Amino acid sequence: MSQYIDMPRLGLGTWRLEGQQASDTVAQAIQLGYRHIDTATRYENEAAVGIGLQQSGVARKELFVTTKIWYDQLAPEAMRRSAAASLEKLQLDMVDLLLIHWPNPDPAWNMAASLETLAEIKQQGWAKHIGVANFPVALLQQAWGIIGEELKVNQVEYHFALQQQALLEFTQSHNMLLTAYSPLARGDFNDNPVLQAIATKHGANVGQIALAWLLRQDGVAAIPKASSVAHLQSNLQAAAIALDGDDLAQLQAIPKDQRLINPDFAPQWDA
Ligand SMILES: NC(=O)c1ccc[n+]([C@@H]2O[C@H](COP(=O)([O-])OP(=O)(O)OC[C@H]3O[C@@H](n4cnc5c(N)ncnc54)[C@H](OP(=O)(O)O)[C@@H]3O)[C@@H](O)[C@H]2O)c1
Repeated sequence: MSQYIDMPRLGLGTWRLEGQQASDTVAQAIQLGYRHIDTATRYENEAAVGIGLQQSGVARKELFVTTKIWYDQLAPEAMRRSAAASLEKLQLDMVDLLLIHWPNPDPAWNMAASLETLAEIKQQGWAKHIGVANFPVALLQQAWGIIGEELKVNQVEYHFALQQQALLEFTQSHNMLLTAYSPLARGDFNDNPVLQAIATKHGANVGQIALAWLLRQDGVAAIPKASSVAHLQSNLQAAAIALDGDDLAQLQAIPKDQRLINPDFAPQWDA
């Protein structure tokens, strides 16, 4: 019996949304029915996202808001400062989920101290849940050894063209959600013939097929970024598409070796 946290499985990603556009898109998305918004200190849009949350007119308790702490702010005092600044910008008393955005690549990084501080930040009421992002299996295992079931989410790149089976097995068996970022492969999917054929069969578009494939998986959430009403609406409807066994076999057969987000500070992914 799984005990995942109560997080809406489809959220809005906000990377690259800034200023007025970020506020308007967040407000619009919530009015359309989104209840989960993903931001980060690094996106430099928390204040704009906060305005959008207010402008939506939807009660705070209905919304699930995630933010993240950047990897160079993982010393305990810096983490507390980062979390406090996020709350102020977002105009919130508490976020629903606070993540370590990336493991710190510095070999001297004290991961235990960072994770324990994250748990303390939760304890003091600034975050309802905590988790990590961009943690490969080996690091996630280590993190589990430090704060265990406090960890509720690992947010990683995951889409039809990137394999994440080992991570998914880990998160599923530890009651953690795997949040798929770049779930639309950053919008680079229009010429994929497999997605196109399945989309035609269901009277859907390729983005909806990409999202439907993720959302049908146990313990998986997805946070597509979109900035037009048409895209926002289309993505919201993806969960209703019922893929059949034949669709799933074809989607599974797409080569899964396309990692799109791989900065020089990234961890060793296959560790
Ligand atoms: N934790 C991390 O390190 C990390 C890293 C990357 C991303 N993320 C999070 O994940 C979110 C999503 O990832 P992402 O922004 O990299 O990429 P994505 O969601 O896979 O793709 C976004 C792109 O797809 C387009 N798009 C959206 N809906 C569409 C539709 N229905 N049909 C066609 N195109 C569509 C968007 O265009 P329009 O804007 O024009 O609608 C945009 O160009 C980010 O915004 C961020 O919140 C986290």
